[in-house]
Amino acid sequence: MTRAPFLIAALDVAAHDRSRFNSGSPALDHYLREQATQDRRRRVAASFVALDNDLRIAGYYSLSTASVPLPDLPSGLQRKLPRYKAVPAVRMGRLAVDVDFQGRGLGSSLLINALRRAAGMEIPAAVLIVDAKDDQAAAFYRHHDFIVLANLPLSLFLPLATVR
Ligand SMILES: CC(C)(COP(=O)(O)OP(=O)(O)OC[C@H]1O[C@@H](n2cnc3c(N)ncnc32)[C@H](O)[C@@H]1OP(=O)(O)O)[C@@H](O)C(=O)NCCC(=O)NCCS
Repeated sequence: MTRAPFLIAALDVAAHDRSRFNSGSPALDHYLREQATQDRRRRVAASFVALDNDLRIAGYYSLSTASVPLPDLPSGLQRKLPRYKAVPAVRMGRLAVDVDFQGRGLGSSLLINALRRAAGMEIPAAVLIVDAKDDQAAAFYRHHDFIVLANLPLSLFLPLATVR
């Protein structure tokens, strides 16, 4: 798989043109255009964009903090964690690649970048969780070894200890 040399950086509204972004999912495009900056300002989520050489946004993901009830995790993983009611998590609420850039490995690169970012945080989280928008998106995450959370087919996770 070819990995294009994209720069992945925090979304900067002044420098990055969000108006052209088209992932084929109106809800994900709308979030980047209308909501992402507000969410950052209100400290509820941060978006990161992949930029091509012309600084065009080729893809993005958003991260926020979350927690997962301990019983929702597989028993093997529960045994490795303290007996708290819930464990800290990072949620990747959104991931999207522009249709012009899909199928070139950018989705994988963004996923890896998000995992590294979450695993490298100074304030630790035990897992990265994702909300897949449909079965096809869930299949993308399963392809990358994500595990279904508590029998909810559209919620998946990966332990961050694995990433480290
Ligand atoms: C899903 C999405 C992010 C994938 O991005 P992409 O750049 O097209 O995917 P990549 O080229 O990085 O694919 C990487 C690998 O995942 C596989 N893959 C891609 N989509 C897949 C799917 N839906 N199901 C299973 N595997 C998938 C590819 O075959 C490839 O496999 P390989 O590494 O073994 O060759 C992109 O298609 C997208 O933005 N879709 C619309 C929005 C969406 O569904 N977002 C999902 C999160 S809610």
